[in-house]
Amino acid sequence: RQDRGIVVAIDGPSGSGKSTVSRRLARELGLAYLDTGAMYRAATWWCGRTGVDLDDVAAVAAAVRAMPLTMVTDPRDPRVVCDGVDITDAIREAALTAVVSKVATNLDVRAELKRLQRAIIEDAAGGAGDHAPRGIVAEGRDITTVVAPDADVRILLLADEQARLARRAKERHGTADASTIEATRDEVLRRDADDSTVSTFLTAADGVVTVDSSAYGVDETFAAVLSVVTKAQEAR
Ligand code: DC
Repeated sequence: RQDRGIVVAIDGPSGSGKSTVSRRLARELGLAYLDTGAMYRAATWWCGRTGVDLDDVAAVAAAVRAMPLTMVTDPRDPRVVCDGVDITDAIREAALTAVVSKVATNLDVRAELKRLQRAIIEDAAGGAGDHAPRGIVAEGRDITTVVAPDADVRILLLADEQARLARRAKERHGTADASTIEATRDEVLRRDADDSTVSTFLTAADGVVTVDSSAYGVDETFAAVLSVVTKAQEAR
């Protein structure tokens, strides 16, 4: 498979550190970077933009099938553009984050986004067109299991609840104390509970390497993931 670029799939729950690590990995290895969670967020934004009721399952699915989405996969500056609008920052807003699970648990939406995600991965790794295949790091909840089960490297990045809450609190509020951790609880735990009704991202599928980052800082987590990828590259 040397004629193809490497595909690295990384799954994990909120606060596991997967976005930070995946993006850095792509940057350092010269690969493309795909944040699939951002695509579920973009779908949610698009429903808002087009006035679709998130509880209307069929209307949401139809809207997402018509969504004019562009994912810019440069890990130095990944951007999400929808209908000509750069929504990279808008899709991180709390109001959108609070409802994204409604869209992410819609099975027709998942089928459509899976199709788009596979096309992006194939474009980066398959060597179609005039660019040399370099490969891609794709991260999410179901990349190792559903989107790219045949990826060269499949990693499940886990962290215990306390570590995940503290990281997200720090990211959102600048500090992790009792009150900011409490304020983050819904975003992290309720959302993961809702999301896990459609994909099981807390246990590793066969052949998926688990990295537990609970006791690690960013650099140690990155080093652990990099060593899994390096071993796989050597074995290719
Ligand atoms: O990782 P994140 O918070 O940006 O993800 C946004 C939402 O999309 C979250 O509710 C989980 C969901 N998601 C998913 O269902 N499957 C993926 N591959 C990625 C994200």
